Amino acid sequence: MNILILGSGGREHTIAWKIAQSPSCKNLFVAPGNSGTSEIATNVPLSVTDFEAIKEVVLKNDIKMVIVGPEDPLVLGVHDFFLADKQLKDVAVIGPQKAAAELEGSKEFAKKFLFRHNIPTAAYESFDANTVEAGCNFLETLKPPYVLKADGLAAGKGVLILNDLEEAKTELRAMLVDAKFGSASTKVVIEEFLDGIELSCFVLTDGKNYKILPTAKDYKRIGEGDTGLNTGGMGAVSPVPFADNEFMSKIQERVVIPTINGLQKDNLPYKGFVFIGLIKVGNDPFVIEYNVRLGDPETEVVLPRLKNDLVEVFQAVANQTLNEITIEIDDRAATTVMLVSGGYPEAYEKGKEITGLENIEGSLVFHAGANVKDGKVVTSGGRVMAITSFGKTYQEAIKKSYQNIDKLHFDKMNYRKDIGFDL
Ligand code: AMP
Ligand code: GLY
Repeated sequence: MNILILGSGGREHTIAWKIAQSPSCKNLFVAPGNSGTSEIATNVPLSVTDFEAIKEVVLKNDIKMVIVGPEDPLVLGVHDFFLADKQLKDVAVIGPQKAAAELEGSKEFAKKFLFRHNIPTAAYESFDANTVEAGCNFLETLKPPYVLKADGLAAGKGVLILNDLEEAKTELRAMLVDAKFGSASTKVVIEEFLDGIELSCFVLTDGKNYKILPTAKDYKRIGEGDTGLNTGGMGAVSPVPFADNEFMSKIQERVVIPTINGLQKDNLPYKGFVFIGLIKVGNDPFVIEYNVRLGDPETEVVLPRLKNDLVEVFQAVANQTLNEITIEIDDRAATTVMLVSGGYPEAYEKGKEITGLENIEGSLVFHAGANVKDGKVVTSGGRVMAITSFGKTYQEAIKKSYQNIDKLHFDKMNYRKDIGFDL
């Protein structure tokens, strides 16, 4: 079977690496891909939200399965586009339909879903430009810190956590009245602050059946000790040591099962990954957010631990026979460390040559913002590559990643030296 993966990050390189190992995969395409995917697949330059261009690639290359990496095409309805097209309707698309992708596309939609299905989450109210003053009054009833969330997609930047009441009111006005996050902040969700440690739970569903994949924890801040600006993610660990069997069964009973049942009750067609962002408050899980795709860099530790043939698993998702699959997970811990361009997540330079890749031993290198130029691998984004390692413990795994990172170089290379510090 010929397969297409949409996206260009470390997540997509990892999916490609896993798919390429399947005997069921004949020709693999990644659009647009990066230097890593170009070594194991054919890169096709296109924008992941240009559905007509995707259609052309699918028809031209006789593609029978499309795996959607990032959220944008899902929220814009790429799966529905395939179903509505006579020539594409039988192509298996891994990723939810538009109505279900609203779980990530709108924070308010997600909060309503969580409340409707009695899934534990922070209390909230939502506001728009006509109710700014009511929003300010609501803030006065809360204790700091104040959590403000732009309703729509804001590339991971739409959440503000503020200690000062006046600042919170000013930001609320900036979001609603001055469109601080463009149309994403036409509505704002104000939430109760939850104090605890975060983790992510990944679930794969065919809309009826589900499988829980390994947990992971990512490190979002640029600075050591979780300080400084938010990034797309600087590293990850799987499994999460504090997610023991007892806690996992709480997650399954209180969150996963009601989520899958809720999708069915609400008629939200879902064939794909559900990424559940959780926070452990005391000993109980609360949902912070849903994403309708895999996380990046969580994928770089979750998929390497999956022993199954991923194409077989995806076929079961497409055919709604996921109940017939037994998921097998590697017992070892996996860690990944993201190498980033100096300056990221603010302005940074691109085009820096990456050297030392041939010296890596015993780790997996997943390219993200990296491309081939004049025969050399050069940086092309803020997050450049993720170095994944296995170990009996996460400490052993992380040591291996850092040893291999010592062999890599590019101008102004930066990374966090404390991944896993809080576990
Ligand atoms: P989100 O985009 O909804 O995942 O939020 C981004 C980050 O903000 C999360 O990863 C949490 O660290 C933090 N956050 C979001 N909501 C809350 C909350 N209600 N209480 C505490 N922290 C939160
Ligand atoms: N690592 C967080 C995300 O993929 O959204």
